[in-house]
Amino acid sequence: MKLFTSVYLSLALATLASAQTKIVLTNDDGWAVAQIRAEYNALKAAGYNVILSAPASNKSGTGSSTATPTTLSDSCEFNTCSKGAPAVGADPSDARLNYVNAFPVDSARYGIQTLSPKFFNSLPDLVISGSNIGSNLGSTVLISGTVGAASEAALEGIPSIAFSGASGSQVSYTTLTSQSTASSTVSANIYTSLVLKFTAALLNNSGPILPDGISLNVNFASTSGKCNTASAFKFVLTRINSDSKAVDVSTCGTTKLPTESSAINRGCIATVSVFDASTKGDVNASTQAVVLNKLKSILTCL
Ligand SMILES: *[C@@H]1O[C@H](CO)[C@@H](O)[C@H](O)[C@H]1NC(C)=O
Ligand SMILES: *[C@@H]1O[C@H](CO)[C@@H](O)[C@H](O)[C@H]1NC(C)=O
Ligand SMILES: *[C@@H]1O[C@H](CO)[C@@H](O)[C@H](O)[C@H]1NC(C)=O
Repeated sequence: MKLFTSVYLSLALATLASAQTKIVLTNDDGWAVAQIRAEYNALKAAGYNVILSAPASNKSGTGSSTATPTTLSDSCEFNTCSKGAPAVGADPSDARLNYVNAFPVDSARYGIQTLSPKFFNSLPDLVISGSNIGSNLGSTVLISGTVGAASEAALEGIPSIAFSGASGSQVSYTTLTSQSTASSTVSANIYTSLVLKFTAALLNNSGPILPDGISLNVNFASTSGKCNTASAFKFVLTRINSDSKAVDVSTCGTTKLPTESSAINRGCIATVSVFDASTKGDVNASTQAVVLNKLKSILTCL
């Protein structure tokens, strides 16, 4: 109950900053998992103008694969649409909840190019991919559908963030209410709070939300032990790949950012890396500096 209250208190505060930012939400675990629906509900409650456009079924590990969406040859995950359903479709009770029977990249593209003009009368301001069920650290970004979708958005000129969390499971959104104390629900709520906190901080800046051609890879540590509340987490600027020759942005007394993999196990950590949406590799110090400056209200040192 305490967690529930604090989630909603932070939502109420975030409402002020969000002023109808237009967001496309996507993932690779599928449109009906608990994590993505918890985020959809919370973003909406916080006053964001949000559309969900995500795969009809689990597309974990499909990177930047792409295909034309096809008629369902099987039902959507958790039976949320029937076999033979159209290639794209919406929840009968909420037209903003959409599945795409293809890959995460295709879901992001459909959200940006087809749903946004319809619901927003414009392109979205931001694409949020994930939070993924499972970490996407280091070279894993290359096969991650979550990162693939965020990259697609950035390459289409839309600022984007890929979020992933170590805890949780790919369970139906119905468990958020039917099993409100299950560990999957608890972690979905904690990561949702962190997604909202991060998004509010990023948007609380003037000028472009992010530089062109880049995206952010954010990984949340496990919610076990003392990391069982959102407030226990601290955001740390990291790099994706180790590179002994790289000179990173100067922060925390060094020009060597920790790698995601080395930082994530050092407490209740949320790693934040800036990556090139084309190569999915690290960016230079001046691009890191732009992001560091935008996120300075929440970034701390290890
Ligand atoms: C989703 O797909 C991934 C990759 O194929 C697989 O490891 C995982 O077990 C799948 N999840 C479920 C719930 O089937
Ligand atoms: C937004 O930024 C201002 C000034 O930098 C700060 O005082 C305020 O607390 C920030 N609000 C949020 C929601 O981060
Ligand atoms: C850093 O990368 C950006 C984007 O690729 C580029 O425009 C800029 O010139 C680079 N800066 C330096 C100092 O290399």
